Amino acid sequence: MKLSACLALFALAASADAFAPITNGAPKATSTALFGGVGIWYSSSTGNTETVADYIASAAGGLDYNDIGDATTEEIEGADALIVGAPTWHTGADEQRSGTSWDEWLYDTLPSLNMDGKKVAVFGVGDQQSYTDNFCDAAGELYDLLSAKGCKIYGLTSTEGYDHQASKAIVEGDKFCGLMCDEDNQYDLSEGRAQSWIAQLKDEGFF
Ligand SMILES: Cc1cc2nc3c(=O)[nH]c(=O)nc-3n(C[C@H](O)[C@H](O)[C@H](O)COP(=O)(O)O)c2cc1C
Repeated sequence: MKLSACLALFALAASADAFAPITNGAPKATSTALFGGVGIWYSSSTGNTETVADYIASAAGGLDYNDIGDATTEEIEGADALIVGAPTWHTGADEQRSGTSWDEWLYDTLPSLNMDGKKVAVFGVGDQQSYTDNFCDAAGELYDLLSAKGCKIYGLTSTEGYDHQASKAIVEGDKFCGLMCDEDNQYDLSEGRAQSWIAQLKDEGFF
Protein backbone atom coordinates (compact mmCIF):
# COMPACT_ATOMS: atom_id res chain seq x y z
CA MET A 1 0.00 0.00 0.00
CA LYS A 2 1.20 3.50 -0.78
CA LEU A 3 2.41 5.66 2.13
CA SER A 4 -0.34 8.25 1.48
CA ALA A 5 -3.02 5.51 1.70
CA CYS A 6 -1.50 4.22 4.96
CA LEU A 7 -1.55 7.72 6.43
CA ALA A 8 -5.20 8.21 5.42
CA LEU A 9 -6.19 4.93 7.09
CA PHE A 10 -4.28 5.85 10.25
CA ALA A 11 -6.00 9.26 10.42
CA LEU A 12 -9.42 7.63 10.03
CA ALA A 13 -8.74 5.15 12.83
CA ALA A 14 -7.40 7.88 15.09
CA SER A 15 -10.45 10.11 14.59
CA ALA A 16 -12.86 7.21 15.27
CA ASP A 17 -10.93 6.50 18.48
CA ALA A 18 -11.29 10.08 19.60
CA PHE A 19 -15.09 9.70 19.70
CA ALA A 20 -15.16 6.25 21.30
CA PRO A 21 -16.46 6.11 24.91
CA ILE A 22 -13.83 5.78 27.63
CA THR A 23 -14.77 2.63 29.52
CA ASN A 24 -11.56 1.36 31.18
CA GLY A 25 -12.86 -2.13 30.45
CA ALA A 26 -15.57 -2.12 33.15
CA PRO A 27 -19.16 -3.04 32.23
CA LYS A 28 -21.09 0.13 31.44
CA ALA A 29 -24.77 0.91 31.48
CA THR A 30 -26.39 0.88 28.06
CA SER A 31 -28.50 3.58 26.52
CA THR A 32 -31.44 2.62 28.78
CA ALA A 33 -29.61 4.30 31.64
CA LEU A 34 -28.00 7.02 29.52
CA PHE A 35 -31.08 8.68 28.10
CA GLY A 36 -34.23 7.82 29.98
CA GLY A 37 -35.04 4.39 31.35
CA VAL A 38 -34.16 2.88 34.70
CA GLY A 39 -30.58 2.21 35.78
CA ILE A 40 -29.48 0.03 38.70
CA TRP A 41 -26.40 1.33 40.51
CA TYR A 42 -24.74 -0.56 43.34
CA SER A 43 -21.40 -1.20 44.96
CA SER A 44 -20.09 -4.33 46.64
CA SER A 45 -17.02 -5.62 48.48
CA THR A 46 -17.70 -9.35 48.58
CA GLY A 47 -20.38 -9.72 45.91
CA ASN A 48 -23.61 -9.90 47.94
CA THR A 49 -25.00 -6.55 46.80
CA GLU A 50 -24.20 -7.49 43.22
CA THR A 51 -26.16 -10.74 43.72
CA VAL A 52 -29.18 -8.78 44.92
CA ALA A 53 -28.78 -6.27 42.06
CA ASP A 54 -28.95 -9.24 39.70
CA TYR A 55 -32.18 -10.51 41.33
CA ILE A 56 -33.71 -7.04 41.00
CA ALA A 57 -32.55 -6.66 37.40
CA SER A 58 -34.06 -10.03 36.43
CA ALA A 59 -37.32 -9.35 38.27
CA ALA A 60 -37.63 -6.08 36.35
CA GLY A 61 -37.23 -7.88 33.03
CA GLY A 62 -33.49 -7.53 32.45
CA LEU A 63 -32.18 -4.12 33.53
CA ASP A 64 -28.49 -3.24 33.48
CA TYR A 65 -26.63 -2.92 36.76
CA ASN A 66 -23.28 -1.23 37.25
CA ASP A 67 -20.95 -0.06 40.01
CA ILE A 68 -21.70 3.51 41.09
CA GLY A 69 -17.97 4.22 40.92
CA ASP A 70 -18.21 3.88 37.13
CA ALA A 71 -21.24 6.16 36.68
CA THR A 72 -21.05 9.32 34.59
CA THR A 73 -23.04 12.49 35.22
CA GLU A 74 -25.00 11.86 31.99
CA GLU A 75 -25.97 8.34 33.07
CA ILE A 76 -27.29 9.53 36.44
CA GLU A 77 -28.93 12.81 35.42
CA GLY A 78 -30.24 11.36 32.14
CA ALA A 79 -32.05 8.37 33.66
CA ASP A 80 -35.79 8.60 34.34
CA ALA A 81 -35.36 6.57 37.50
CA LEU A 82 -32.58 5.00 39.56
CA ILE A 83 -32.46 1.87 41.70
CA VAL A 84 -29.53 2.26 44.11
CA GLY A 85 -28.11 -0.33 46.49
CA ALA A 86 -25.36 -0.48 49.10
CA PRO A 87 -23.90 -2.86 51.68
CA THR A 88 -22.88 -1.59 55.13
CA TRP A 89 -19.28 -2.08 56.28
CA HIS A 90 -18.59 0.97 58.50
CA THR A 91 -20.57 -0.17 61.53
CA GLY A 92 -22.00 2.66 63.61
CA ALA A 93 -20.61 5.44 61.39
CA ASP A 94 -22.65 8.61 60.90
CA GLU A 95 -21.21 9.27 57.45
CA GLN A 96 -19.70 7.04 54.76
CA ARG A 97 -21.39 4.00 56.23
CA SER A 98 -21.08 1.79 53.19
CA GLY A 99 -17.30 1.41 53.00
CA THR A 100 -17.57 1.14 49.20
CA SER A 101 -17.47 3.57 46.28
CA TRP A 102 -20.81 4.97 47.49
CA ASP A 103 -18.96 6.93 50.18
CA GLU A 104 -17.01 9.01 47.68
CA TRP A 105 -19.96 9.33 45.28
CA LEU A 106 -22.40 10.54 47.95
CA TYR A 107 -20.07 13.20 49.33
CA ASP A 108 -17.96 14.24 46.32
CA THR A 109 -20.21 13.69 43.27
CA LEU A 110 -23.85 13.92 44.35
CA PRO A 111 -23.64 17.53 45.64
CA SER A 112 -22.97 18.85 42.12
CA LEU A 113 -25.70 16.83 40.34
CA ASN A 114 -29.18 18.01 39.40
CA MET A 115 -31.47 15.36 40.92
CA ASP A 116 -34.65 17.38 41.42
CA GLY A 117 -37.73 15.15 41.11
CA LYS A 118 -35.71 12.06 40.12
CA LYS A 119 -37.46 8.78 40.94
CA VAL A 120 -35.25 6.67 43.22
CA ALA A 121 -35.69 3.27 44.89
CA VAL A 122 -33.15 2.15 47.51
CA PHE A 123 -31.99 -1.33 48.46
CA GLY A 124 -29.60 -2.36 51.20
CA VAL A 125 -27.69 -5.53 52.00
CA GLY A 126 -26.53 -6.32 55.54
CA ASP A 127 -26.32 -8.86 58.34
CA GLN A 128 -29.15 -8.57 60.89
CA GLN A 129 -27.63 -11.06 63.35
CA SER A 130 -23.99 -10.01 63.66
CA TYR A 131 -24.77 -6.29 63.25
CA THR A 132 -28.19 -6.21 64.87
CA ASP A 133 -27.92 -2.56 66.03
CA ASN A 134 -26.84 -1.29 62.62
CA PHE A 135 -28.71 -3.41 60.10
CA CYS A 136 -28.33 -1.94 56.59
CA ASP A 137 -27.44 1.52 57.95
CA ALA A 138 -25.88 2.58 54.63
CA ALA A 139 -29.23 2.23 52.86
CA GLY A 140 -30.56 4.87 55.25
CA GLU A 141 -27.71 7.18 54.27
CA LEU A 142 -28.56 6.78 50.56
CA TYR A 143 -32.18 7.58 51.41
CA ASP A 144 -31.30 10.65 53.49
CA LEU A 145 -28.85 12.22 51.03
CA LEU A 146 -30.87 11.49 47.88
CA SER A 147 -34.06 12.78 49.52
CA ALA A 148 -32.21 15.94 50.53
CA LYS A 149 -31.19 16.41 46.86
CA GLY A 150 -34.86 16.45 45.82
CA CYS A 151 -35.31 12.82 44.74
CA LYS A 152 -38.69 11.15 45.17
CA ILE A 153 -38.21 7.83 46.97
CA TYR A 154 -40.36 4.83 46.06
CA GLY A 155 -40.62 1.30 47.43
CA LEU A 156 -40.65 1.58 51.24
CA THR A 157 -41.23 -1.84 52.84
CA SER A 158 -42.38 -3.39 56.11
CA THR A 159 -39.81 -4.47 58.73
CA GLU A 160 -41.78 -7.66 59.37
CA GLY A 161 -39.81 -10.83 58.74
CA TYR A 162 -36.49 -9.39 59.93
CA ASP A 163 -34.88 -9.81 63.36
CA HIS A 164 -32.72 -6.83 64.25
CA GLN A 165 -32.55 -4.36 67.13
CA ALA A 166 -31.99 -1.10 65.26
CA SER A 167 -31.43 0.23 61.77
CA LYS A 168 -30.80 3.68 60.30
CA ALA A 169 -32.62 2.38 57.22
CA ILE A 170 -35.94 2.71 59.09
CA VAL A 171 -37.88 5.82 58.10
CA GLU A 172 -41.37 7.18 58.65
CA GLY A 173 -41.61 5.42 62.02
CA ASP A 174 -41.62 1.76 61.14
CA LYS A 175 -40.72 1.17 57.51
CA PHE A 176 -37.50 0.39 55.74
CA CYS A 177 -36.52 3.04 53.21
CA GLY A 178 -36.57 0.38 50.48
CA LEU A 179 -35.79 -3.31 50.02
CA MET A 180 -33.46 -4.82 52.64
CA CYS A 181 -31.75 -8.16 52.02
CA ASP A 182 -29.56 -10.32 54.21
CA GLU A 183 -27.36 -12.66 52.20
CA ASP A 184 -25.68 -13.90 55.41
CA ASN A 185 -28.79 -15.15 57.22
CA GLN A 186 -31.73 -15.07 54.79
CA TYR A 187 -30.14 -15.60 51.38
CA ASP A 188 -33.00 -17.89 50.36
CA LEU A 189 -35.49 -15.01 50.72
CA SER A 190 -33.66 -12.41 48.61
CA GLU A 191 -34.87 -13.41 45.16
CA GLY A 192 -38.53 -13.53 46.23
CA ARG A 193 -38.16 -10.25 48.10
CA ALA A 194 -36.73 -8.66 44.96
CA GLN A 195 -39.65 -9.93 42.87
CA SER A 196 -42.25 -8.60 45.35
CA TRP A 197 -40.47 -5.27 45.51
CA ILE A 198 -40.44 -4.85 41.75
CA ALA A 199 -44.19 -5.64 41.69
CA GLN A 200 -44.67 -2.97 44.39
CA LEU A 201 -42.60 -0.44 42.42
CA LYS A 202 -44.77 -1.09 39.36
CA ASP A 203 -47.92 -0.50 41.43
CA GLU A 204 -46.45 2.75 42.75
CA GLY A 205 -45.78 4.00 39.21
CA PHE A 206 -42.00 3.88 39.50
CA PHE A 207 -41.59 2.27 36.05
C1 LIG B 1 -16.32 -5.79 59.35
C2 LIG B 1 -17.76 -5.93 58.92
C3 LIG B 1 -18.66 -4.93 59.28
C4 LIG B 1 -20.00 -5.03 58.92
N1 LIG B 1 -20.90 -4.07 59.35
C5 LIG B 1 -22.22 -4.23 59.10
C6 LIG B 1 -23.18 -3.31 59.61
O1 LIG B 1 -22.87 -2.36 60.34
N2 LIG B 1 -24.49 -3.51 59.30
C7 LIG B 1 -24.91 -4.56 58.53
O2 LIG B 1 -26.10 -4.69 58.28
N3 LIG B 1 -24.01 -5.45 58.03
C8 LIG B 1 -22.69 -5.31 58.28
N4 LIG B 1 -21.79 -6.21 57.78
C9 LIG B 1 -22.26 -7.29 56.91
C10 LIG B 1 -22.16 -6.94 55.43
O3 LIG B 1 -22.77 -5.72 55.14
C11 LIG B 1 -22.84 -8.05 54.63
O4 LIG B 1 -22.07 -9.23 54.72
C12 LIG B 1 -23.08 -7.70 53.19
O5 LIG B 1 -23.81 -8.74 52.59
C13 LIG B 1 -21.81 -7.42 52.40
O6 LIG B 1 -22.17 -7.01 51.12
P1 LIG B 1 -21.16 -7.01 49.89
O7 LIG B 1 -20.73 -8.45 49.68
O8 LIG B 1 -21.98 -6.52 48.75
O9 LIG B 1 -20.03 -6.11 50.23
C14 LIG B 1 -20.44 -6.13 58.14
C15 LIG B 1 -19.53 -7.14 57.79
C16 LIG B 1 -18.22 -7.05 58.20
C17 LIG B 1 -17.28 -8.18 57.84
